[in-house]
This record gives sequence, C-alpha cells and structure tokens, in this order.
Amino acid sequence: MNNLVMPSLETINRLEANREELTTLVNKEVRLERKLRNMPSMQTMKEKEFLYKLALEYYKGQGLIFDAGLYLGVSTLCFGRGLKRNPHIGLKNMLQKPIQSFELGICTAGIANKINQIYPDILKMREGDSFLPILRSNIKEVQSLTRLYEGDICHWLQKIPEALYEIAFLDVLKTATVNDSVVSKIFPSLIPGRSVVIQQDFITPNLPWIQISMGYLKEYFEYLFTRSASTIYLNTKKIPKELVSKKFYDDFTLEESLALFAQSYPSDLDEFGQYKMELAKGLLIAYKTDINQGIKHLEGCRSQYEKFAQIKPWIRSVDDQINYARLLHLSLEASASS
Ligand SMILES: C[S@@+](CC[C@H](N)C(=O)[O-])C[C@H]1O[C@@H](n2cnc3c(N)ncnc32)[C@H](O)[C@@H]1O
Repeated sequence: MNNLVMPSLETINRLEANREELTTLVNKEVRLERKLRNMPSMQTMKEKEFLYKLALEYYKGQGLIFDAGLYLGVSTLCFGRGLKRNPHIGLKNMLQKPIQSFELGICTAGIANKINQIYPDILKMREGDSFLPILRSNIKEVQSLTRLYEGDICHWLQKIPEALYEIAFLDVLKTATVNDSVVSKIFPSLIPGRSVVIQQDFITPNLPWIQISMGYLKEYFEYLFTRSASTIYLNTKKIPKELVSKKFYDDFTLEESLALFAQSYPSDLDEFGQYKMELAKGLLIAYKTDINQGIKHLEGCRSQYEKFAQIKPWIRSVDDQINYARLLHLSLEASASS
C-alpha cells in the first residue's frame, strides 16, 4: 500500500467541510416527487432520496456524475431531476453532459420476471431480451443532462476519455471483472476531499470483491454512513492508478483477502449487516480454498440466521447460500476444465 501520499492541508479542510455537509444532507427531510417515489427500482426510498439530495444540493459541477447499473433508470432520474433544481450550477454552460450513465440492458431471468410483473398486460420479456427501450423512455426527460452508454461497461471504460468524477454511484459491480474495471478507471479520477462514492451493493451477501477492494483502499476513503444496502464514502486522497490496476478477487491469498475484508467493515455495521457479510465471507473462503471450507464457514452462521428468519422471512438463508456456493463452485470447475 502506498502510505506516502498525504492529503494536503487544503484537502483536509475541504474534507471536513464536505463531511459536515453530507452528514447534514443525509438527515435532511425531502419528499421525492411521485414519479421518483413510484418508479420501479431495486433501491429503497432512502437510497433514492439520497441520490436526489446529492444532485440537488451537494453537486457543484467540479466533476461528472458516474452512474452505473441503472436497470429501469431511477438513479439517472434522481440525479437528473436533482440537477435541474440545483441552485449552484449553470447547466447551460456545461461542456459535457454531467450524468454519465452505464447500462447493459439485457434481461437476466430475474430482471425479465420483474419487468413482466410491472407491465403484466403489455410485455412478455424473456432472459436475453433487451430492456433498453424501457430505460430510454424512462429517462427521456433528463436526456439533455445524460450521456447513456448502452452495453457492457467494461467495453466503454476502455474508450471514454479521462475525466474527474464528483459523485460515483456503483450498482454494477456484479462480477469481479466489472469491479476491477470500474475501480481501476474511476477511482483514480475522484477528487480528494470532494468526491462521494456510493457502493450500492456493499451490504450484500454475494459480491465479496467489493469488500476486498474497499478494505484495500481503506486509507483513501472515509466511511460516512449506510443507507439500506449502500455504504457511502468520501475520497480522502488521490488514488494512484498503479495501486488499483489489480484483480481484487484473485491477486490476494485467502489470509490477505480476509484481512482486507475485515478492514472494510463499516464502523456501525448492525447485526443484520454482519450476517450478510458472513455469508459473503463464506463465498470468498469457498473460492479461495475449497467448497467444504466455505460450507463449514456458512454452517457456522445458522444461529445468526435463525435470529433474523422470524422477523425478516425474505432474507437469504444459510441453505440458500450453501446452494449458491455449490453452483458457483460447479461453474468454476466447468470453466477450468473447458
Ligand atoms: C441491481 S441492478 C441496478 C438497479 C438499479 N440501480 C435500481 O436502483 O433499480 C444492476 C444493473 O447492472 C446492469 N449490469 C450488469 N452488468 C453490467 C455490465 N457489464 N455493464 C453494464 N451494466 C451492467 C444490469 O443490467 C442491471 O440493470
């Protein structure tokens, strides 16, 4: 780790002011307009409100907004509607569209099901179908502020020019490859003391590369707070490019990965969050050692699970996670032998 780059006094002052502003902002009451409230989304109301408030009050046009993993576009619309009412910026003078949005737009079985439930009499989507027409139509009203990159984000990240990012909303890090590609391109372009990163999938049981990356970069971020599954950070120091050109899930041993994973824990993680982290850790152990070690770790989570199963019957059970770990293991074996 590069400990030598210390934040400047100017950055420290900026950091303090911005920390205070964000802490006030997160607690500020705002009622989203009906369209934003009712729009189908995989985020909670609190998460949507925070994106809207960031664009409305925090954003000062010092960099772009990186908005990745849109599904039907609620993050883009929250940012866009917020920007339209933001008193600090002159949208007409902007050289570039401030919201840079990325979406693959291809239905997984789960997404197809969700969309069919939203439009029961109109659409019959299947796995593999494109949902981009729905997304384009949903975010049309903010198209003058938004550049939509359709397709695989890894492809686009190799093409887009360097830029600064004042806000980065990450709901796209669903594979280790996408994680590496986003972290290596975007994190060195954050503005120290200013840029906010929203890790929408942090408190999630199945994407352990996110925890490893944030643990590895602990000294470059200050954890601020959690909104539902999202953890929110301020960037504290310039992130050197060479530091993040890595394969976060593959380049570390199990011991190193577990240490980084532990370093990433938010200071105020509640018991339910801890349960989800333990599930993610089980996948990490299965990936780095063997499936039996991973299952052994997951078996140890049963008492935690039982505590929540009554009050949150929808949560992922230990058995579901063991099945999921077995499936991942089989697909890894299959790709290794092909
Ligand atoms: C959990 S959903 C996003 C939910 C959305 N932020 C919301 O609040 O409703 C993740 C999205 O990432 C997109 N995605 C996954 N892999 C991608 C990739 N390689 N490039 C671009 N988008 C991708 C998926 O198509 C999906 O829409």
